[in-house]
Amino acid sequence: MNQSATASKATATALPKIPLVDLNAQYQSIKQAVNGAIHEVVESSGFILGKAVQNFEKEFAAYCGAAQAIGVGNGTDAITLALRALGVGPGDEVITTANTFIGTTEPIGLAGAKPVFCDIDPLTYNLDPDKLEQAITEKTRAVIAVHLYGQPAPIEAIKKITEPRGIALVEDAAQAHGAEYHGQRIGSLGHAACFSFYPGKNLGAYGDGGAVVTNSSELADRVRMLRNHGRHQKYEHEIEGVNSRLDELQAAILRVKLRHLDTWNGRRRHHAQQYTRQLAGLGVETPIEQPGVHSVYHLYVIRTPHRDALREFLGKQGISTGIHYPLPLHLQPAYRHLGHGIGDFPAAEAAAKEILSLPMYPEMTESDIDRICEGIREFMTTRVG
Ligand SMILES: Cc1ncc(COP(=O)(O)O)c(C=O)c1O
Repeated sequence: MNQSATASKATATALPKIPLVDLNAQYQSIKQAVNGAIHEVVESSGFILGKAVQNFEKEFAAYCGAAQAIGVGNGTDAITLALRALGVGPGDEVITTANTFIGTTEPIGLAGAKPVFCDIDPLTYNLDPDKLEQAITEKTRAVIAVHLYGQPAPIEAIKKITEPRGIALVEDAAQAHGAEYHGQRIGSLGHAACFSFYPGKNLGAYGDGGAVVTNSSELADRVRMLRNHGRHQKYEHEIEGVNSRLDELQAAILRVKLRHLDTWNGRRRHHAQQYTRQLAGLGVETPIEQPGVHSVYHLYVIRTPHRDALREFLGKQGISTGIHYPLPLHLQPAYRHLGHGIGDFPAAEAAAKEILSLPMYPEMTESDIDRICEGIREFMTTRVG
């Protein structure tokens, strides 16, 4: 082992690990308020569809600039119930991006419809509107626009295609709480927007949670029924629904956290700027924010053909990274029945081999980012070339 390798090994063991996300750091910063909110719910012994859910729904709808929010069990259910409320069912097709979490597409199958994939824009990793038209058939009932990594999808270009054809537009906003599109918060850009409050999200619960946000009172009413056994009143079931309610404990915690969301998103944006500035000129691609788009950097994703080696190198320095996502959905075993193969969505396939998510959470420090960028610089200058 040469001297610099010995030095680098010694530094690695001495330095604290940098996780991809640190939920405990956030809890410590709001501990009193969260513990108080939990205590209040437990003392009240009202756990299902009570005041905390009602208040959170009002506050979250207002935050999104939409008329209504309906709290549900998780983000996957939010999309499923939105699709069902829109009337999507057997025989229908729903188009979405090949580069997303399966929580975007499971709801299509759960609603009885068929997922149809569309390739991505290699610059933003979001759905490529130029590829959307060719995916449309007479069976297309809805498009799910995913605001991936916190960056709003190109809604205007998508709407130009969906609106004249009467195709419903659902936002998958699971990764983008608080993101803006031409000055408007995401959440009311389509017929319904679906949020996940999975713990690691920009607005995360301490368990599962989700919400459907919409300006349509008719749609909101149907989602409200569907999430609660198809009823408005006890033992009067108008339709067969499901049990998928945001619970009081999660709603109470989310009310506390919602007050901090803009500050936390601001820190994420600040970290992203710091990353982008320090990584410039090192030969890795950094995220591109489209004009008029205000990303909330749920993830900070870089791209390099040396991804796997870089990941290993950073791992040895105690720096965790992630891949979102390593295999596009059309190549997943779960979608084998759709008959896709390698080459069907080349931009998504190429990205999956090269993308790397760096640590990103509001409580990161500038020195964490300095250390990560220094690690990338060391790798790119000594191992590549
Ligand atoms: C893009 C996207 N869609 C849908 C989901 C599903 O949300 P949940 O895990 O709350 O069901 C997630 C998150 O996990 C997601 O990241």
